[in-house]
Amino acid sequence: MSGRVREQGRVRPHAPSMHDASPAPGQQVLGFERTDLVYPNGTHALDAVDLTVRAGEFVSVVGPSGCGKSTLLRIASGLESASGGYAQVGANRIGYVFQDATLLPWRSVRDNVALLAELDGVPKAERLRRADDAIALVGLRGFEKHLPHMLSGGMRMRVSVARSLTLDPELFLFDEPFGALDEITRQHLNDETTRLFADRRFAGLFVTHSVSEAVYLSTRVVVMSGRPGRIVQDIEVPFDFPREPSLRYTAEFTTLAAKVSEALREAHA
Ligand SMILES: Nc1ncnc2c1ncn2[C@@H]1O[C@H](COP(=O)(O)OP(=O)(O)OP(=O)(O)O)[C@@H](O)[C@H]1O
Ligand SMILES: [Mg+2]
Repeated sequence: MSGRVREQGRVRPHAPSMHDASPAPGQQVLGFERTDLVYPNGTHALDAVDLTVRAGEFVSVVGPSGCGKSTLLRIASGLESASGGYAQVGANRIGYVFQDATLLPWRSVRDNVALLAELDGVPKAERLRRADDAIALVGLRGFEKHLPHMLSGGMRMRVSVARSLTLDPELFLFDEPFGALDEITRQHLNDETTRLFADRRFAGLFVTHSVSEAVYLSTRVVVMSGRPGRIVQDIEVPFDFPREPSLRYTAEFTTLAAKVSEALREAHA
């Protein structure tokens, strides 16, 4: 079953009912309302965060180091529970890509990509079919039998993205996935990510420290304050999909990136 509604924190009296279909375009997949998170050691990570992500939206989150961006993703994925306010996830299939590819070194590319489907109990023929589709989507055809140490950093991240793609995620969480890569490889992976999004139209929540990456990929960019993180700006990105690499050199793009940078500078102040 897909589309299970999971709620955390204070639950509303009139919560949306359970439903079987994938979220329709525009349907809310993730909702934070005055969401607070205080870790058991007393660290106040998030303060009254209001954020909605709908199917077909790709939302990037930028903010100072330690402001609670990863914490936000951990709540969205169910790894952490909100300590106050309200957090609702209307997705059953959640992809999560971390900064490190976190591949199993003894498994081939194909077997790494098939891992989540395997843990989900998907029969072998079906999970290998899904793995091969995902490998093709991220441009790794021909590398199925390679072990992780035989791949570049960019290829390892592609494997990590493909692994989540086998779940056909309704909600796709990314925590600085391309931060360790050189600028050109990062741009290539951004091009692939935006193509994937244009094709699949999942709900995306993408944490990054790169303003241009945030603007290039997203339908919205939210800017967080320093810890405890609050959302201080929510900026629409009006460019159509699919996006072309040349978009980065347009005046409209540069103007919007400058607006996000300015908000980020204020958030650091
Ligand atoms: N398990 C934990 N227990 C206690 N404090 C934590 C825990 N995880 C994170 N924190 C603290 O919560 C705050 C927010 O951490 P978080 O990892 O969400 O920040 P971030 O915005 O992702 O930072 P960065 O940009 O450096 O990745 C930080 O002060 C961090 O030290
Ligand atoms: Mg982080």
